[in-house]
Amino acid sequence: MRNNSFEDLDTFKAWCKENGFVYPSSEIYGGFAAVYDYGPYGTLLKNNIQREWEKYMIQERNDIYLIDSAIFMHPKTWEASGHVQSFADVLVEDKKTHKRYRADHLIEEYFESMGEKIDCDKKTPEELANIIQKYNILSPDGNELTTPRNFGLMVKTNIGTTDSTLTDQNVVYARAETCQGIYLNYKNIIDTFHPKLPFGIAQVGKAFRNEIVARQFIFRTREFEQMEMQYFHHPKDKDRIFDMWMKERMNWLVNVIGLRSQNLRFKRHEKLVFYASKAFDIEYNFRTLGGFKELEGIHDRGDYDLSQHSKFSGIELDYFDPDTQESFIPHIIETSIGLNRLFFAVLEDALTVEKVRNGKGEIDNRIVLKISKYLSPIKIGILPLVKQDKLIELSRSIQNVLKREYITQIDISGSIGKRYRRFDEIGTPYCITVDFKTLEDSTVTVRDRDTMQQDRVSIADLTKYFSDKFK
Ligand code: GAP
Repeated sequence: MRNNSFEDLDTFKAWCKENGFVYPSSEIYGGFAAVYDYGPYGTLLKNNIQREWEKYMIQERNDIYLIDSAIFMHPKTWEASGHVQSFADVLVEDKKTHKRYRADHLIEEYFESMGEKIDCDKKTPEELANIIQKYNILSPDGNELTTPRNFGLMVKTNIGTTDSTLTDQNVVYARAETCQGIYLNYKNIIDTFHPKLPFGIAQVGKAFRNEIVARQFIFRTREFEQMEMQYFHHPKDKDRIFDMWMKERMNWLVNVIGLRSQNLRFKRHEKLVFYASKAFDIEYNFRTLGGFKELEGIHDRGDYDLSQHSKFSGIELDYFDPDTQESFIPHIIETSIGLNRLFFAVLEDALTVEKVRNGKGEIDNRIVLKISKYLSPIKIGILPLVKQDKLIELSRSIQNVLKREYITQIDISGSIGKRYRRFDEIGTPYCITVDFKTLEDSTVTVRDRDTMQQDRVSIADLTKYFSDKFK
């Protein structure tokens, strides 16, 4: 049986907290809406997902450059990109409680409760107001709503007081998408590396948005991380390249990250965000959020961004093709996935509850995080059979041999059965048990998380054993 106790969001959130994956931010001050911290296992898992993305998108290819641009950019960046004018959600407020909601979400929830579906994607405040009025939609507390209005999503802050490059009371924006840092470095990459089209520039980093609602755990937060890649190409190749990236991204999610393919699907956007001329989402079936929702976006951004930045900066951003002697602004296909949102999907997909027989022959629940071993936070658990100095000492010496290559953890507290369960629950693929036989013949048992089969392996062979397992 799979996932039988993790269908609702509260149980899932509690599991993430209890197991050191995700903590609510600023909890001792009562929390801070739509912001989360990552605990020790969550940090390791997030880093592992990021590393797999960088391997697939950069290391295993020859045509993509990885950069790390600053979160703050010249404020003109966001005027040129169109975000200052157009990046907004539609807000409504409960007239009595003053709680704020996204109008499109309230309407969609209302229709869902009636067993119907409506797509409010990119509807204007006026269109949403008409729907609210027609169906007399109220707030979740049963009160009337204010007239829908646009609410800017850019997070504003101030920097310095003497910087002459800034105007408008020193307002700067925390970046709302990482790709703008890529466009601003496109010319640097061209000047330094002289790449031929098509080529990509990628980066992973924080983005910030003033999200209106804060009820979806790490699915929608005000501070999050994106893994974005912009693929520069000649416009004649756009359809082929768009299709290639649709296949590549789905392949990575299924065959590298290990999400179950039945939980993923493509969805074409009918109404487009202001910078895109064609857009598909890869959606994941988030059960704890009630169904399929956007996980990754694949966007044809055409020459919109480079043209805008060229216009606003006055700097030419053309590409010169030495073969055809043609000079033009390259077009861009973008792939953009939220690291935290993928982290959510990975946990939801892998969290499994199995019925097993315990030592007394009774049926027990075994919670196992059936995550790819390459993503597991702890690769190898090391367990002395009992709390005895010699066994603990030997466990430490085994850890010393393995720790440079793998993240390992020794656990000495509680019964051996309980300790296996703890490692199963955080997805540790292998557990080494050091027992009394180890003292006699220098062998240990290695238990496989998924099959629960045990191998007896000589300590001297452990390095080779695990290098085969993690090949
Ligand atoms: N550069 C394109 C772009 O930013 P987007 O659809 O707004 O497009 C891309 O965002 C991805 O970033 C989404 O598919 C999602 O995975 C993630 N994302 C967006 N907003 C988010 C938020 N508030 N919290 C967590 N992840 C978010």
